[in-house]
Amino acid sequence: MEFEEVLEKERAVRKFTDQRVSEKTVRAILADAQRSPSLLNSQPWRAYVASGDVVKEIRAKFKKLTESGEQPREDFASVMKVEWDTYPSQNMATMSDTLNYFLRGEMKQFDEAQITLFNAPTLVFLTIPKKSPAWSIFDLGAFAQTLMLSAVDHGISAMPAHAIVRYPDIIRQYMPIGEDEAIGMGIGLGYKDKRASINDYRSVRENLDRVVKFIK
Ligand SMILES: Cc1cc2nc3c(=O)[nH]c(=O)nc-3n(C[C@H](O)[C@H](O)[C@H](O)COP(=O)(O)O)c2cc1C
Repeated sequence: MEFEEVLEKERAVRKFTDQRVSEKTVRAILADAQRSPSLLNSQPWRAYVASGDVVKEIRAKFKKLTESGEQPREDFASVMKVEWDTYPSQNMATMSDTLNYFLRGEMKQFDEAQITLFNAPTLVFLTIPKKSPAWSIFDLGAFAQTLMLSAVDHGISAMPAHAIVRYPDIIRQYMPIGEDEAIGMGIGLGYKDKRASINDYRSVRENLDRVVKFIK
């Protein structure tokens, strides 16, 4: 696939079909991600892939906890400060407003997507050691982005979401992830449900001149 097409198609998918992704394809995608750069080639990341009944069980347990009002307890919230400066806060508010407008106020479609973990048939949990410098969070982001672009190139949609990692203790019940690892991000992989209108929402980006400065 042409790079421009991959970039164009790499969009949040909030509803997947039930169709499974083959392990061969997931391996090929992760092999591409494994080529990502990292500080001094430290490669601090680990990826744990859940599929089949494991995903169904994790999804059911997450749903129960969310519906009973259990607060998220993401690993990254304890290893780094969660504070937002004005500029990203404004962008997040814009996203919320435009999405609300697109869904004609039916934000429950969005909430439902989070609760069902987007119905993704494959969940990839990305970790770094809890004992990590900020560089490793940067590196994990690079790994995740290569993974998502490769997924698109393989005809698979990818959904990065902190909603997928909000109860790390539940994930650890199924995946062999040590307490010394922070479960930083979850990526759902699968086939986009083309009938789901929530998948038609298009996010906007800031004007390039607001984020890039050329100094001569
Ligand atoms: C680190 C990260 C966490 C995210 N968490 C969620 C999430 O929990 N739920 C969700 O619906 N979208 C989540 N997203 C998707 C973003 O909302 C989405 O990427 C952004 O709005 C831009 O839209 P686009 O990817 O369709 O271009 C997350 C994205 C990233 C990179």
